[in-house]
Amino acid sequence: MFLTFEGGDGVGKSTQAALLEEWLTARGHTVVRTREPGGSEVGVLIRDIVLHHRGEIAPRAEALLYAADRAHHIETVVRPALDRGVDVIQDRYLDSSVAYQGAGRVLGRDEVRNLSVWATGGLLPDLTVLLDLDPAVARERLDADDKPFDRLESEQSAFHDSVREEFLALAAAEPGRFLVLDASRIPADLATDIQGRVQSLLADPAPTGSVGDAD
Ligand code: TYD
Repeated sequence: MFLTFEGGDGVGKSTQAALLEEWLTARGHTVVRTREPGGSEVGVLIRDIVLHHRGEIAPRAEALLYAADRAHHIETVVRPALDRGVDVIQDRYLDSSVAYQGAGRVLGRDEVRNLSVWATGGLLPDLTVLLDLDPAVARERLDADDKPFDRLESEQSAFHDSVREEFLALAAAEPGRFLVLDASRIPADLATDIQGRVQSLLADPAPTGSVGDAD
């Protein structure tokens, strides 16, 4: 299975990814946990550019950098793992590009999505968990973490509001792939809901999808 976590910054994706990894491992699955940007050696270099470069990156260049990270990551990490029968749990995937580069910035959502579809040969997750949270609440959590902000975290609140709206629109457009959860709930309860959905995927497996498959 290819399972992805999406949502704004500070919504608890890594916590839930870790809990799901634990749960699947306890059931005898082998799991690769990874993330974008930065899930490969080349990706770590690209991550440093997109998150830490001081100053502007032209929107098309930024979209291409995320897509380049994704292309290399899917080809060298994710597809080989799936081919070995290993489950992949991933923090962020193409929906993040549509939400951040497409909605928040000046590019259209279709062109951003098509770029990722081209970059990955059309690989879609079996399940995408969207952790939905008011960006103001997420911001309080990030402040409490006391880590320095990266380029996107330091964007204005209107940007994060539109990222949230875009994620919700993506989920509404593909209800079969998405599980949308209210990320203000306690982590253990969220984990239970996610496990329930993964359990039903295990009981009724469908081949890992690609763009063009019916939802
Ligand atoms: P993330 O790794 O979740 O940040 P952190 O480890 O600091 O919690 O994501 C880094 C940022 O990259 C996040 O603000 C969203 C952004 N991003 C995009 O803009 N487009 C993309 O395609 C991806 C994958 C991430």
